[in-house]
Amino acid sequence: MPANPSPLTAPTAEDIRAWYRVQSAALAHDRPGEPVPSQAAVRAGLTTTGPRRRLVLWLLRGSGDEPVATALLRLHGATGAGGAGAGGAADIQMTVHPAHRRLGTGSRLLATVTEAATAAGCGTLTAEAVSGTPGEGFLATRDFVPFARMTWQRLPLDDIPAPVGKLPDVPHPGYRLTGWEGAAPDTLADGFLDALRALPAPAAGLDAADTRWDPAAVHETAELAARRGDRLLTVAALHDDGGVAGYTTVLLPGDGARRAQQYDTAVVPAHRGNGLGLWMKAEMLRRLPAAQPDLAEIHTRVPDDNRHLLAVNTALGFRPLHRTVRFRLRLRVRR
Ligand SMILES: CC(C)(COP(=O)(O)OP(=O)(O)OC[C@H]1O[C@@H](n2cnc3c(N)ncnc32)[C@H](O)[C@@H]1OP(=O)(O)O)[C@@H](O)C(=O)NCCC(=O)NCCS
Repeated sequence: MPANPSPLTAPTAEDIRAWYRVQSAALAHDRPGEPVPSQAAVRAGLTTTGPRRRLVLWLLRGSGDEPVATALLRLHGATGAGGAGAGGAADIQMTVHPAHRRLGTGSRLLATVTEAATAAGCGTLTAEAVSGTPGEGFLATRDFVPFARMTWQRLPLDDIPAPVGKLPDVPHPGYRLTGWEGAAPDTLADGFLDALRALPAPAAGLDAADTRWDPAAVHETAELAARRGDRLLTVAALHDDGGVAGYTTVLLPGDGARRAQQYDTAVVPAHRGNGLGLWMKAEMLRRLPAAQPDLAEIHTRVPDDNRHLLAVNTALGFRPLHRTVRFRLRLRVRR
């Protein structure tokens, strides 16, 4: 590996194929039996960015030009004097091909990524590793501190317990269900923003600074999904006063994969304890087959300290897939 590998400026089709080879080999090795994302999904993830989510990519090759490792630095935050990432948090995803591990590549790549994040003015790096895999030991020995444990869960749509199908019809006095695709309709945009702000920080996995939603951030989330070819479905519970009491969002993949990804679910604090989480998620499950008829399953991840959401998902039929640990590294901020 060169002493200071340069980031990819514009990934070519060959770069994306090489990236995919590292990712698919690592996934088969670290999480055998789990579905590998398609090359189209990997390409969309690497090439779709917005002003608040800048990506910096590194692809390392060996002496025979074989792909050896990848790293992705995702800078969050509003554009401004320092650009995306300034003063805020960034995520990293580093992967070393299983045939090239324990040779120091991960450590050197991490030094490069950390340097780039520091230069961009980031205060914090976050990273996620599957429990019990090398990534957990690696991050722990590189000064990262664990701050959240997550359980990933899966629900094949054929396994949804029959009573779940009736849950959306149970009346919740004072509330009604609605739903939309893409950005929230104008009439609900402000209420939806308030509900987004009710999401607890650990679920987002970011520092508080990154969970301050504003209208531009909400718009960008919907726009990036659309540009990747994905579809964002939202079901919300509306209160009689017209406000959004809670919401749940699911992403349908644009690459034809038959697996949906659950995004956030949140209930505004004043409306908690009324069964809205289960109600909204049951309604979402009812809507999914019409939205994508060949959909086979839905995946989600829940912070282990969110007992309510874990209970809701268990009632819906979700079962554990694997567990992950989220780590954080404080960076020295350059002035
Ligand atoms: C984590 C990962 C990037 C490490 O890459 P690597 O090139 O093997 O890392 P290094 O050779 O620089 O290892 C550095 C140190 O990390 C620790 N480490 C690495 N693999 C480990 C393992 N299997 N068990 C325990 N510690 C481990 C060790 O302290 C190691 O030093 P040592 O080899 O001198 O004992 C690689 O295993 C990987 O791609 N895993 C899957 C993706 C992932 O989890 N990424 C991390 C989150 S972003």
